[in-house]
Amino acid sequence: MSGIRYGGDYNPEQWPESTWAQDIRLMTEAGVNLVTVGVFSWSRLQPAPGELTAGWLDRVLDQLGAAGIGVDLGTGTASPPPWLVTAHPEILPVTVDGRRLAPGARQHYCPSAPAFRAAAVDLAGRMAERYAGHPAVTMWHVGNEYGCHVPACYCELSAAAFRDWLRARYGEVGALNEAWGGAVWSQDYTGWDEVQPPRTAPTYANPAQQLDFARFSSGELLACYLAEREAIAVQAQHAPVTTNFMGFFRSLDQFRWADELDVVSVDSYPDPADQEAHLQSAMTCDLTRSVARLSGSPGRPWVLMEQAPAAVNWRAVNVPKAPGQYRALSLQAVARGGDAVLSFQWRAAAAGAEKFHSGMLPHAGTASRVWREVTRLGADLGRLAPVAGTAVRAEAALLHDWESWWALEADSHPRQLHLVELLRAFYRPLFEAGVTVDFAHPESSLSGYRLVVVPALYLVSDAGAENVRRFARDGGTVLISFFSGIVDTCERVRLGGYPAPWRELLGLRVEEFAPLPDGAVVRLEGVAVGESGTGAGSAGHVWQDVIDVLGADQVLSYAEGHLVGRAAVTRHSYGRGEAFYLGTLPDRATLRDLMAQACGRAGIEFRTDIPPGVEVVRRGDCLFVISHLDHPVELDLGGKSRDLLTSDIVGPAAVLGPRGVLALTARD
Ligand code: GAL
Ligand code: ZN
Repeated sequence: MSGIRYGGDYNPEQWPESTWAQDIRLMTEAGVNLVTVGVFSWSRLQPAPGELTAGWLDRVLDQLGAAGIGVDLGTGTASPPPWLVTAHPEILPVTVDGRRLAPGARQHYCPSAPAFRAAAVDLAGRMAERYAGHPAVTMWHVGNEYGCHVPACYCELSAAAFRDWLRARYGEVGALNEAWGGAVWSQDYTGWDEVQPPRTAPTYANPAQQLDFARFSSGELLACYLAEREAIAVQAQHAPVTTNFMGFFRSLDQFRWADELDVVSVDSYPDPADQEAHLQSAMTCDLTRSVARLSGSPGRPWVLMEQAPAAVNWRAVNVPKAPGQYRALSLQAVARGGDAVLSFQWRAAAAGAEKFHSGMLPHAGTASRVWREVTRLGADLGRLAPVAGTAVRAEAALLHDWESWWALEADSHPRQLHLVELLRAFYRPLFEAGVTVDFAHPESSLSGYRLVVVPALYLVSDAGAENVRRFARDGGTVLISFFSGIVDTCERVRLGGYPAPWRELLGLRVEEFAPLPDGAVVRLEGVAVGESGTGAGSAGHVWQDVIDVLGADQVLSYAEGHLVGRAAVTRHSYGRGEAFYLGTLPDRATLRDLMAQACGRAGIEFRTDIPPGVEVVRRGDCLFVISHLDHPVELDLGGKSRDLLTSDIVGPAAVLGPRGVLALTARD
């Protein structure tokens, strides 16, 4: 089926069978054509070890298929049933401080436990055997949100698997001691058996050990996914397989995972109480598109697998989406490369832990705001069929690397930093100016970009460092922030002045860090004021670098404090390109000015005419204009074009209603 897919998680086993016909009728009414089934159904699929008891699922799939509704079929392995836990209590995961978690919720498994893996592979294999040829099954959904609730396990089984992983990586225990800096705090090992996961210790666990354990843990979960995927492939070789990522979720290295997914999918739950929920969800969309891109085919469309139609149930206060917000954020996903828009879940549950989570079909039934929005969106997505399969092109990239994230947010650093907050700070001005960005791995090809932004890329490999230099040498513009390029892949400091691999590129060296306490502000002034007048009223937050300028131009300097007069922001020519350096986190307006300068130098259009709260993004031939405002806004569209959503000719002047969306194509 072509076009943009629409639907949600469907849990028919939670309802009497007499409800199913109504579900399917309402799905058809809403334009739903893809549902995810079976994700948490293990205890109903295998009430006891052995055979599948899947008559109910046969009937559901047949009925969905007959109605032309495709199924993303879960392998059902995300919540082990009580009989499995009773037979194999060792599959229950253990926390960093040694507590074994109880069953009774979900996702209570140790990824390294052989009994869990065997049972999961067995179930996935039986599911594939039974449903491989089923006409309704369009995609397979392995596990669910790997790492959610239990990102890592510290049990003895995991410890043994960690040792095996380390042995494969380092060969000799001496090499491990070298890589982990064993001479510090008397940590040299004499044999593999002495090595433990980084469990709660009197104080900071060895940072290189923590980093390796994060790598290992992401890999163990990936191994669980791969084992189930193999079991499916035995039965259904060409069936597309996915599992749902969680956007900026720290524990899974999605760049390593994405290649193993035929379809990359994501769950996106921005907090409607956040004034910038749309910015957070835009980042999630762009990240998902980016990890899909890395795996070979540029512009591979992705799936928004889950979102809330209104409220979730798992925050302290669960604010529902505002009227129109479900639609605006769904269309944002399409605009940023999504080819399917699904929600959790189809019918709001009556029982269990998620009964106050919104559903597409709420407790109140069809006489409800949510249902009206759900049917409206179905119609809208139908009209966007021409957009399906088309690509989103980004001229700018923010470098992102899970390994660096793990290392950056480890303890015992000059200052705590939160990567997602920093990414958001650097993403914001680009988003507001209509500049589409990818999140690129430092070692990926950068040649398609004009601007590369490097926010706090604390850890960088030699190859990644050279990749950034080459990009600038070849004519690209680079903007690097503080605390980037500090350590190598073993978490060992690169010496001689920071950031060692990029000193020449930047024309400076950082001699010392002088982080700022929370809330502290230091005034900045423009020495060489840029095109956009940077300087007046500028301030730095979070961090200060003590910079020795070695050839760079000083763009901003500290106007007060110990570093008064010294460089805070610099610019330097390098090869055919140039590099900006930010030794502090400038206030929003200043960062926007700097980003505008960098885009200007890079030849990227940086629009200043987009009203705040309005998003502009191009996908293929379609320019999406999305208002995230709860009041009307006047726009100058620059000319006339056709709106795919209404077929009207609009522009040059237009008024967009609250959370209104335009999908503009050339007039025909
Ligand atoms: C996700 C999960 C879904 C559902 C949803 C609620 O984490 O995959 O099964 O629990 O959250 O927001
Ligand atoms: Zn374990």
